Amino acid sequence: MDKLKLAVLISGRGSNLQALIDACGDPDFPAMIVHVVSNVADAYGLVRAADANIETTTLNHKDYKDRESFDAALTVIVENSGAELICLAGFMRILSAGFTERWHRRVINIHPSLLPDFKGLDTHARALAAGHVEHGCTVHHVEAGLDDGPVILQARVPVVAGDTPETLAARVLLAEHTLYPQVIKILANNPELWL
Ligand code: GAR
Repeated sequence: MDKLKLAVLISGRGSNLQALIDACGDPDFPAMIVHVVSNVADAYGLVRAADANIETTTLNHKDYKDRESFDAALTVIVENSGAELICLAGFMRILSAGFTERWHRRVINIHPSLLPDFKGLDTHARALAAGHVEHGCTVHHVEAGLDDGPVILQARVPVVAGDTPETLAARVLLAEHTLYPQVIKILANNPELWL
C-alpha cells in the first residue's frame, strides 16, 4: 500500500514533528513526511527536518500583505509537495476559511488540552487554575476558527499534587508525542476519515 504523504507545518521547537519523523522511520508505519513548512525562519524544527533529509520551506507571514495571500502561497507549496494531509505541529497561525475549505478534512492539528476546554494559549496554567484533575491533548480536524473542528482522538493525563504549568506541560507533551503518530496511523488506514 502507498504511504500517506504528509506536509507538516511548524513555528518552533518541532518536538511533535520529531515524533512524526521517528514514527515514519519505522518501515511499517503507513505514512511519510514529504515537506515541512515553517512561518518562522529560525524554528528549530527546520533543523530536525533537514537532519531527516526532508524538504523544507520557510514562508514568513510578514512578507505577505494579508492572511489570504499567505495561505494561498502555502497552498501552492503543499500542492507541489504532493502531500495528501496537512499536519499542524505547533504552527501558531490561524488559517483562513479559504484555506481550510480548500483542504477540507485534510488539515489536522494537535492542541495541548482536552478540547473544547482551553482553546488558545497557556492551556496548562489555565487547567491548573480551573482545578482540573485531568488534562491532556487533542488531535482534531481544523476548521476556520481558533483550535476548532471535530475531534479525532484525545489522550488524557492526570494533574498531580504540586504540578506547575511546566511539569504539567511536560507530561502532556509526552502524551502528544504518542498521540500524533497514533492518529496518523488511524487516518492512513482509514482514508474515509479524511477524504
Ligand atoms: C505543542 O504543545 C502543541 O500542542 C502546541 O504547541 C506545542 C508545539 O511544540 N500547539 C498549540 O498550542 C496549537 N494551538 P513542538 O513545536 O515541540 O511540537
